[in-house]
Amino acid sequence: MIDVNSCRLLTVFIILTTVTACHRTVPAPVTPTPEQSKTFQPRALRDVVFERTRARLERGKYLTESLLQCFICHSDRDWTKPGAPPVANKKGAGHIWEDRPWLVAPNLTPDKETGAGDWTDDMFARAIREGVGHDGRLLYPQMWSGSFRSLSDEDLASVIVYLRALPPVHNPLPKTNIPEERKKTLPTLEPLIDPVPQPDLSDAVKRGAYLARIADCAGCHTAWEAPIVPGFYAGGNLIERGKEKVFSANLTPDSSGIGYYDDALFRSTIRTGHVKARKLSSLMPWIVFRNLNDDDLKDLFAYLRARRPIHHVVDNTEPPTECPACGQKHGYGDRNSKKTVVAVSIDTNAYADYVGRYRFDDGFMITISTEGDSNGGNNLNGGNKLFIQFASDPHKIELVPISATEFTAADIPDVITFERNAQGQVTHLLSNVDEVGKKIE
Ligand code: HEC
Ligand code: HEC
Repeated sequence: MIDVNSCRLLTVFIILTTVTACHRTVPAPVTPTPEQSKTFQPRALRDVVFERTRARLERGKYLTESLLQCFICHSDRDWTKPGAPPVANKKGAGHIWEDRPWLVAPNLTPDKETGAGDWTDDMFARAIREGVGHDGRLLYPQMWSGSFRSLSDEDLASVIVYLRALPPVHNPLPKTNIPEERKKTLPTLEPLIDPVPQPDLSDAVKRGAYLARIADCAGCHTAWEAPIVPGFYAGGNLIERGKEKVFSANLTPDSSGIGYYDDALFRSTIRTGHVKARKLSSLMPWIVFRNLNDDDLKDLFAYLRARRPIHHVVDNTEPPTECPACGQKHGYGDRNSKKTVVAVSIDTNAYADYVGRYRFDDGFMITISTEGDSNGGNNLNGGNKLFIQFASDPHKIELVPISATEFTAADIPDVITFERNAQGQVTHLLSNVDEVGKKIE
């Protein structure tokens, strides 16, 4: 089992040992190369102070203590209680990682000697969204900056205003000391230079997409590290922390997922940590998600309902059996079958338009190319076969058309489409988890 987590979306894969997460899109898991880590160039710190307003304090408390799960990692937890809440009076005071004692989630409270008392607002901002420590070090991706990166400027400011108002807790801890061999392959995030406005919040699915993104639901609920990734949100990611070990659930609207849920069941599951009478593992962070208000829970559910249904039965209450869908052993694995991708026949002339490089907002790149016969010579860029490559991974995966506009492959967890502008030029690549790659060449 792997253990670096990383969440640079699409890319990378995630972690696993422990809570994991990462999210993003399209791709199949790719291990970051040493070159990626070499490109680590944090931006200089800015002299900003976020105005301490009451609205920010409230919004910051709401986000920090619910979706963003900051204290689930930055506190010692009481595993004897349902949901394993942070230990009383030590909220945010830092934590030495269970099975990796070299990894320390630092004390975020404003204690001058052992905490963040002397850090600036921008040190927090750069750590949260760009993965850079207050001292300029590259943070280990167990810190989910890959998902927090999507926080709007205003939400980020709110979180920071709230953190700075926490009661200081004196809690001396060692510093993180990442083993040398792991340092070489750590994923990096590009500096965020441009403003991050509030996302489009015009309908429930869009609002839910933002909430799911910053909470990294897909990070835990996608089996990034499995031999076969059944699909985004299709569950089967082995989540471990300390002695706890459990496979994440399928959250797609399939009968094997949450197809039978309604708003009320979703709300009660998240609020109580029980699906009807069945108790959920404390590795599912319901203990903080239960602080979400009814509107946000409704929007999250609307977003999940709008995902592509994927059949993948995962039941932690049953003994583990081989699962042909993800290649792992988990409860009710034997109720699944191997993913099949059936190609439809389409006009491959459009392939030439898709060829190019696509850039995601965190700098992650996808390359689309073609090979093979060129449709009677009409197609100058060649090819009746379409391929995808992730970041600098030299391995090409052949894409299979499953409709006139949609492509996938057995080892890609997602379905890809290409978007054209009014002039008919291909401008973007879209994935079903709302990741958008802009065509740059
Ligand atoms: C899944 C676990 C996890 C979650 C969730 C998480 N963190 Fe972290 N965070 C870590 C770990 C582990 C580190 C230390 C990484 C390292 O030292 O390389 C860290 C590092 C940091 C740092 C850098 C501290 C320094 O020394 O400069 C800050 C700031 C931070 N986290 C803030 C937050 C905030 C705010 C949230 C919620 C928005 C949050 N974290 C959520 C695990 C987490
Ligand atoms: C740290 C990893 C992690 C994160 C983040 C996470 N989950 Fe989970 N979730 C799990 C695990 C593990 C389970 C399975 C627990 C079990 O079977 O006892 C689970 C179970 C669930 C279930 C119960 C499904 C069922 O009927 O069995 C729901 C609903 C759910 N998660 C929703 C969400 C949503 C929504 C988000 C984002 C807001 C989210 N989860 C984020 C780990 C996670």
